[in-house]
Amino acid sequence: MYHIDIMTLFPDTVGDVLSESILGRAQERDHIRILTHQIRDYTKNKQKQVDDYPYGGGQGAVLQADPLYQCWSHICQQYDTQPHTIYLSPCGKTFTQEDARRLAREHNHLILVCGHYEGIDQRFIDGYVDEEISLGDFVLTGGEIAAMAVADAVCRLIPGVLSHDACFEDESHWNGMLEYPQYSRPAQWHGMEVPPVLTCGDHKKVERWRRKQSILRTRDRRPDLYAKLDLSSKEDQKLLAEIRAEELYKPLPHPVSIASATQEAWDTLPWPHSPNMPEHSYILCHGDQAAACFSLTPLEAQAYMEIQDGKWSAQEPSLWFQLHGTDPELTHTDLVPQMLACVRNLGRDLHAPWIRTAADKRNKAWLAHLKQAGFQYRGNLSYDNLRQVAYELRLK
Ligand SMILES: C[S@@+](CC[C@H](N)C(=O)[O-])C[C@H]1O[C@@H](n2cnc3c(N)ncnc32)[C@H](O)[C@@H]1O
Repeated sequence: MYHIDIMTLFPDTVGDVLSESILGRAQERDHIRILTHQIRDYTKNKQKQVDDYPYGGGQGAVLQADPLYQCWSHICQQYDTQPHTIYLSPCGKTFTQEDARRLAREHNHLILVCGHYEGIDQRFIDGYVDEEISLGDFVLTGGEIAAMAVADAVCRLIPGVLSHDACFEDESHWNGMLEYPQYSRPAQWHGMEVPPVLTCGDHKKVERWRRKQSILRTRDRRPDLYAKLDLSSKEDQKLLAEIRAEELYKPLPHPVSIASATQEAWDTLPWPHSPNMPEHSYILCHGDQAAACFSLTPLEAQAYMEIQDGKWSAQEPSLWFQLHGTDPELTHTDLVPQMLACVRNLGRDLHAPWIRTAADKRNKAWLAHLKQAGFQYRGNLSYDNLRQVAYELRLK
């Protein structure tokens, strides 16, 4: 049986909380035993006072060493072996799942000491405490909440306390990762659905989805943990490639359509865009929401910009493509590839042999999109001293 003795000024509260539910049942089945001890019962003065002024002055009071020692040695006398004593303290090392595992594995008896006021007399710590544990970088009024957290985290790792080992092997922090999202019945709730993969009955697919969600959560919420993960296995590398592809091109949920821009529609576009609407402008809609605006201006064969270190493929009429704005909320979607496909179709409908454009040399993402859509690099443009490069797309 695993024993935890908690030294506190509030033994009833702490005892009540730790005898509820799973830990209560585990105590009834003798897997663990949690006892609480009133520190005041070990003071020798009539008022049961356990605190006094700090030496050297300063605010508040300090829990005295002797009642703590008396309480501690009374507990130790009940056992044959020396317990492992922990003082819950904001000055301690931050408690982690790894500590919970270590305490469950290496000991079978803990004494948890809860401080109050300004803390406890350092001599009790120096003489009788084996380690100090903090719940995190914040200050509580007393050590009880921290002691309950430590007791709970350790006890649930004791064999027999949870119904099955898998209950904690999957959990957050067990393997250095945060857990995937969990769902329960009903399948539809407040208009939100359970991810379909969880109801498909294919165990392998479910495992894969869960691993991917764990990777994503850990990366987004705990970069410190993510940095330590080993994701070198073939399976994880595949998941990472999938994540990268999905994040670049999350498909837009609604179809896109193009319409010639009107001045009124241009002026009411809800995201940043060039204020002046050029002739031959278009608005790309996603469902009934405007998603991007661009212009495709017909240029005569002679009216093209000069390329410093190259040339356009042919001196023929072309459409000059300029993007004037996109909805920033759609940045991580396939909006741009879809827009470029629409631009190409529009160019064909307008019977132009070429679509040409200038692009900022430093905007690598945009250049990659142009390339992906079939545009070809033609060289540096001499254009207002800006670092612009020439791209063209052959339509015929
Ligand atoms: C108000 S605190 C004492 C804080 C102390 N004066 C200091 O600045 O470090 C009173 C008691 O609450 C407990 N406590 C406070 N913050 C804690 C934390 N982050 N983790 C664990 N115990 C904490 C300790 O047992 C401590 O003795």
